[in-house]
Amino acid sequence: MNVLLIGTGGREHALAWKIAQSPSLDTLYATTGNPGIAKLAKPADLIVTDHKAVVDFCKNHKVDLVIIGPEAPLVDGLGDSLRAADIAAFGPDKAAAQLEGSKGFTKDLCARYDIPTARYQRCRNALEAKAALNDFGLPVVIKADGLAGGKGVIIAESRTAAETAIDEMTAGSFGKAGLEIVVEEFMQGEEASFFAISDGQNVYPFGTARDHKRVGDGDTGPNTGGMGAYSPATRLTADIEQQVMQRIIVPTVQAMKQEGAPFIGILYAGLMLTKEGPKLIEYNARLGDPECQLLMLRLEDDILPLFYAAAQGQLEIQPAPRFSSDHAVTVVMAAKGYPASPVKGGSIQKIEDAEKLGAIVFQAGTKLDGEILKANGGRVLNVTATAKDFKSARALAYQAVAAIDYPDGFWRKDIGL
Ligand code: AMP
Ligand code: GLY
Repeated sequence: MNVLLIGTGGREHALAWKIAQSPSLDTLYATTGNPGIAKLAKPADLIVTDHKAVVDFCKNHKVDLVIIGPEAPLVDGLGDSLRAADIAAFGPDKAAAQLEGSKGFTKDLCARYDIPTARYQRCRNALEAKAALNDFGLPVVIKADGLAGGKGVIIAESRTAAETAIDEMTAGSFGKAGLEIVVEEFMQGEEASFFAISDGQNVYPFGTARDHKRVGDGDTGPNTGGMGAYSPATRLTADIEQQVMQRIIVPTVQAMKQEGAPFIGILYAGLMLTKEGPKLIEYNARLGDPECQLLMLRLEDDILPLFYAAAQGQLEIQPAPRFSSDHAVTVVMAAKGYPASPVKGGSIQKIEDAEKLGAIVFQAGTKLDGEILKANGGRVLNVTATAKDFKSARALAYQAVAAIDYPDGFWRKDIGL
């Protein structure tokens, strides 16, 4: 089949790497901008907000399946436009992507369908949000309702900090995302990411991971898109996984169908493993970045029949996806200054040396300057390794990082600890 991959990050480089190995693939096209993906796919020079151009490209190139990586085009309704033109798309439509696009939407859904999550209140302005603080203890969690690149959540340790966060959000620190606010109870426990694949009705588990969101060692500094991750998330035992499926994932898929917004794609649940059992922190409507990089290395099945069946609403014709028992670790090499003001343009060498050791280096924010690879964004490389046990995978990932010559980069030294 012919496939169009949308997105230019490390997640999409990993998807392209996996798709390129599929016996079902004829031609892979991918949106341009990532030199790593460019080695694996034919260029599709598209502006993805121009849905008509994407649809026309698919028709002209006989694309059988479009795989949408990032959240922005999903929330923007690219899935709807493709399906309206009878093109199979892997990724939810706009209504279902609200699971990620609006925290308030998800919390209300959880309340209506009895899905375990933190107690909350939706607030339309600063006054309401400040009044809501009376109903919560400390720390308290303040969230911008809309998409904020993983940065729209403040955990306030004091009433003053909570009020400051509310003022900043409603004053526009997260743009339109902060026009509505969710005030939420702070949950104590261990975090884990759980992925599931759904065709709108059927749903299978799709692996687990744990990521490290803070920029600095020892979980210090501001939140980022993720500085590294490991998979599987060992705290998520088979027993807890079953509880997550029964109490959180399956009820969500059923609820979305019942609400007339069936969810097609990868449902990514951020979980808190609390004393009372697993609870939902939030949903994303896509694969995690960099968690996807790990799942692609561990996925044993051909990805295309699976994604195609889900896009067609026929996931039941495929067996549940299988993941190897190997452990995978990825370390993000980021540009100095990330997340606030990453230094662009630093040159990167010796990726081949890292790969000779047995690691796989996925590119995120990179560009080619003539023959030389340069940094072109915050998160630059995802240095990824697998092994039979976690310790060896971690050691290999860090050996590979040390082999790469990227003087303007930095990375966390404690991924997986
Ligand atoms: P989110 O963007 O919703 O995943 O939130 C970012 C991070 O904030 C999460 O990964 C958690 O570490 C933390 N967080 C969000 N909501 C809560 C909560 N209700 N209780 C405790 N921590 C939370
Ligand atoms: N790594 C976190 C995310 O993809 O949202």
